[in-house]
Amino acid sequence: MYVLGIETSCDETGVAIYHSKQGLLSHFLYSQVAMHNDYGGVVPELASRDHVQKLIPLVKQALTEAHTPSATINGIAYTAGPGLMGALLVGATVARSLAWAWQIPAVAVHHMEGHLLATMLETPAPQLPFVALLISGGHTLLIRVDAIGAYQILGESLDDAAGEAFDKTAKLLGIGYPGGAKLAQLARQGQPVYKFPRPMTDRPGLDFSFSGLKTYALNTWQQSAQSEQDKANIALAFEQAIAETLTIKCKRALQQTGLKRLVVAGGVSANLTIRSALTKLTEAQNAEIFFPRLEFCTDNGAMIAYAGCQRLLANQQQDLAIVTKPRWPL
Ligand code: KG4
Ligand code: ZN
Repeated sequence: MYVLGIETSCDETGVAIYHSKQGLLSHFLYSQVAMHNDYGGVVPELASRDHVQKLIPLVKQALTEAHTPSATINGIAYTAGPGLMGALLVGATVARSLAWAWQIPAVAVHHMEGHLLATMLETPAPQLPFVALLISGGHTLLIRVDAIGAYQILGESLDDAAGEAFDKTAKLLGIGYPGGAKLAQLARQGQPVYKFPRPMTDRPGLDFSFSGLKTYALNTWQQSAQSEQDKANIALAFEQAIAETLTIKCKRALQQTGLKRLVVAGGVSANLTIRSALTKLTEAQNAEIFFPRLEFCTDNGAMIAYAGCQRLLANQQQDLAIVTKPRWPL
């Protein structure tokens, strides 16, 4: 089965062609980061307009690169939510229209299910069941995954998502947008002079709370000499607090479920400090760990094509409705 995947939930236009037996045949991504950078965050109206301009050319490119004429495509998967309404509508409308024109099914995919299944594109892919830690700009979730579609939420963030905490802290330190990767880069020059709290680790449970860390970072910054070195030291302390908190909760989740496989995905899983802390944890726990390749940690069309292919193989598809759900629990 050849599936075209379309991702337009936020500020990246992602397109991919996935084949159920041959795997990923092509994938293209256009990032709007430079455009939103001037505004210090994503401007929803500009995001939608840009998706309108970029999407069809990217679809053509993906078809050409995969040597799949449109007549060979068997189904279309598109991100239906969660995300920005206008941005989602672009992907959903194009996907649904192409499906109608080509007389093939289309399926609405949950963006976080896309992230969750991104590691399935890697070799070796994780076997089921596993514990998944999803850390993105909008979500922080610990999930028990028994099958595709059988997800039990074990814990989640009660306030800011991990990526949101990175971005907000970067912004208040004047590092720019999107701040996660930039803050991580700055942390490499940091000295271990500060120790930030590990929120919600002193009580049982698998929920997270990251919003206090940005306030802690701001207070530390204001009380410092505000040098470049101070900034780097704060970036390091912040990153270590997030990494250790995630590690403590993942250890609990593995122990609670008795599972020996951990899958980590979403934009923040590109963070090398977090990857290394979680890898050490799984080594100590005699467990396996799986990450997507770095470019599939953040938003992309490949994960949507894969997730949609699994849904289509299970005969799940929608009628002619254009489905968009800006808020949509997994
Ligand atoms: O999964 P994603 O691309 O979009 C959402 O679904 O939200 O995640 C984007 C998030 C942003 O908050 C970004 O700052 C963060 O992932 N991020 C990172 C790194 N790369 C991206 N955070 C920390 N370290 C990184 N290297
Ligand atoms: Zn995402």
